[in-house]
Amino acid sequence: MKVVLGVAGGIAAYKACSLLRLLSEAGHDVTVVPTASALHFVGEATWAALSGKPVHTDVWSDITEVPHVRIGQEADLVVVAPATADLLARAASGQADDLLTNVLLTARCPVVMAPAMHTEMYEHPATQANIATLTERGVHVVPPASGRLTGRDTGPGRLPEPEQLFEVCVRELARGAGGAAPSGAAAARAPRGDLAGRRVVVTAGGTREPLDPVRYLGNRSSGKQGYALAAVAAGRGAEVVLVSAASLEAPAGVRVVRVETALEMEAAVRAEAAEADVVVMAAAVADFRPSSYADHKIKKTHEPGADGSADESAPVVTLVRNPDILAGLVAARGGAAAPVVVGFAAETGDESASVLEHGRAKLARKGCDVLVVNEVGADVTFGKDDNTVHVLRRGSDAVLDVGPVTKTAVAQAVWDVVTDIL
Ligand code: C5P
Repeated sequence: MKVVLGVAGGIAAYKACSLLRLLSEAGHDVTVVPTASALHFVGEATWAALSGKPVHTDVWSDITEVPHVRIGQEADLVVVAPATADLLARAASGQADDLLTNVLLTARCPVVMAPAMHTEMYEHPATQANIATLTERGVHVVPPASGRLTGRDTGPGRLPEPEQLFEVCVRELARGAGGAAPSGAAAARAPRGDLAGRRVVVTAGGTREPLDPVRYLGNRSSGKQGYALAAVAAGRGAEVVLVSAASLEAPAGVRVVRVETALEMEAAVRAEAAEADVVVMAAAVADFRPSSYADHKIKKTHEPGADGSADESAPVVTLVRNPDILAGLVAARGGAAAPVVVGFAAETGDESASVLEHGRAKLARKGCDVLVVNEVGADVTFGKDDNTVHVLRRGSDAVLDVGPVTKTAVAQAVWDVVTDIL
């Protein structure tokens, strides 16, 4: 497919190099159209070398080929990353003062814009009005991520990670290829991805159950699979709440509720799930917690006894059961169909049964709609970028084997199953 990668003049232009690589490696024919300011950040030679094509910023080069019209007309997708406040303003007001704005006026394919700038500029009513105008006209504006910006600032305004933008591009290309990419008023009404209008809750990470102010009982979950599920759902148009016990950076377009313990996670999930269409329990929730919390650090040795010798016996930690959040969700919905509940099962095979057999038994026990079974071990899955899973559906004997692939690709497969159920 023909993709135009527009790059405006922001420091995040360097991240567009990775997006270009992902698009090219996926077999797309990418034409880079930077603005003149973008070339202050990443030079023409870099874009030309990475795309294998000449790069122009104005409408006066190769004039016989009428590039200002042709590039936009022939595109299957235009993605602008980063889109600066100035580029958004020029696009919203229909200016055509450089090659990129000409391309935007002539394109009739899906258009994706990823704003990136300092928080104040992003939140300014002028920028927000321009984003609203562009959205109304059918542009898919990807909300910026929150986090460290250039200099000392933090807040909303970071360009989403290239992998997340790539996922949005793949979806928009599919939408365009399906003939669902009208322009103008019709585009404003067109659905943005197959999870548009859906509210989903995803949990991620391993809970920590504190023993004292210093120590906790935890597990090896990194949270990467849950974050990938949240990022992909946002890219497919869902409103996403991520209840996270991991300390990873928030994906763009996702509201993060940070929790630490299983009880905190249960309260957050219960509050957020009330209005949800889907709940995905990807978190590794601790089954047990210490029965009591010591306000002060538990000491290695206790006070000397009557005979003057220090008591060096190890303390005994008593555990109590945590609530099963997933089981609680299934029980709370009674006979109703919503929300669709997806569970994860980290399994190791043993003498009694294989990973898959354990998974089937768990699906029956938990009563959720989908169970994603993954084989785990000290060096398998945890913290890795790749995953291998078997997806089971309630009421079906079929097994969907996925992987080994990236956790993002696993997330796509899981959402494909969920959208089928929805
Ligand atoms: O029974 P097991 O812990 O293997 O089940 C895993 C699934 O149950 C995961 O989806 C996990 O998020 C969820 N779970 C839960 N509450 C617990 C333990 C697990 O929701 N206390």
